[in-house]
Amino acid sequence: MPTPDDVRTTSIADAAAYRQGPPLAEFARLRSQAPVAWVPEPTRRLRSGSGFVEHTGTGFWAVTRHETVVAASRQPTLFSSAARGAFLSDPKSWADLERSRQLLIGMDPPEHGVLRRRIVSAMPTRAALAQSIHDHAASLVSAFVAEGGGDVVADVAAELPLLVLADLLGVPSQDRHLFFEWSNNLVGFDDPDIGGNDVTTFTRTIAEAFGYARRLANDRRRSPRDDFVSALVTGPEPLDESAFCHAWLLMVVAGNETTRHLISGGIDLLLEHPRLAERFVAGADVSKAVDEMLRWVTPIMQFRRTATADTELEGQPIAEGDKVILYYIAANHDETVFDSPEVPDLARDPNPHLSFGVGPHFCLGGHLARQEAVELFTALRPHVARLRRAGSGSRLASNFMNGFKELPVTLGR
Ligand code: HEM
Repeated sequence: MPTPDDVRTTSIADAAAYRQGPPLAEFARLRSQAPVAWVPEPTRRLRSGSGFVEHTGTGFWAVTRHETVVAASRQPTLFSSAARGAFLSDPKSWADLERSRQLLIGMDPPEHGVLRRRIVSAMPTRAALAQSIHDHAASLVSAFVAEGGGDVVADVAAELPLLVLADLLGVPSQDRHLFFEWSNNLVGFDDPDIGGNDVTTFTRTIAEAFGYARRLANDRRRSPRDDFVSALVTGPEPLDESAFCHAWLLMVVAGNETTRHLISGGIDLLLEHPRLAERFVAGADVSKAVDEMLRWVTPIMQFRRTATADTELEGQPIAEGDKVILYYIAANHDETVFDSPEVPDLARDPNPHLSFGVGPHFCLGGHLARQEAVELFTALRPHVARLRRAGSGSRLASNFMNGFKELPVTLGR
């Protein structure tokens, strides 16, 4: 049995390595040789003001088997989201850590449960958004078809979640492009074409988004409506200003790129596998197909936890304070759970993928993302046989999000 030192890897930590797609072969090697493996982190150059600072992370334990990702996710006190945040990059300062602890995703019990119940109870019912999701998906697809194609990412995959978020978060639809820019700046931090590792852009983006959220909250306090924002800032237990801004911004970011990458990655899957596309056109169950796209793409490839005590995972000792990364993308290809995981199967059932996480932080917008993708692929189905690539597209340089920045296609006859 190799020791963890024999199976060291930097490639899974290096954002640039994901430009060619997630390193699935490396994840398979880790699952079989060292399912809890130590990964040193490459040094990153961060732009700050007019200069640069170098930042080297602490290194981390990469958890790659399905069963172990589930086990760690279900012990939020031992594997904490609050101790050092939920992201692979370490907080850059105490203020940074404090900010991440105000996000639902960076909280532990019992605070996490209290805020989560508050947010869930403010969300509109599934039925309330169903018609508008259907209408947005249908009109985006029909415009795309009328144009004879275009960039799947900009024209369809990014637009649908933005339109749905604008409805959900109570902003005029013309302001949805602010969501696009904020989310890109925050999540695309590592990509030289987007966030460019620029701390100043990151900080400015948060200030801008919070300013917008404060104005929105003030408006609803003055004139409440029957909507998500009013439910959070009015009533017997209103969220204070800071809690509201953090909750609102988390929804903007969490509901945005994730669904974009699911849709563009799903279309890429159909383009890459013509037989699969034929079966899809012939009448595959769209819900099952979307679940397989979720497994295949795994838009969020990992989240972070920090051990709060000395412990072990799969026999590997973990020290208090160690960073532990839960690789959903590796778990979603675990051959002990999925038959032929490297072969996409749009009828896969059961499909216990972990793309929405598992445990107390399980995605609270998963139903919306599924509904958006089901409506989009239902509207697109009659045109799938005519879809052709019009270029290679380009992928995000990110070890966190698995997505395309651009995916040009045409619609032939
Ligand atoms: C394909 C689309 C999506 C994917 C792949 C996805 C993935 C995830 C994952 C993996 C988590 C777990 C975080 C953890 O364990 O630390 C999560 C949490 C979360 N997601 Fe999603 N998500 C998607 C769509 C959405 C949408 C549409 C919304 C809202 C409109 C949303 C809001 C959230 C929030 C607020 C959390 C934090 C929950 C908590 O900490 O209790 N997500 N998501």
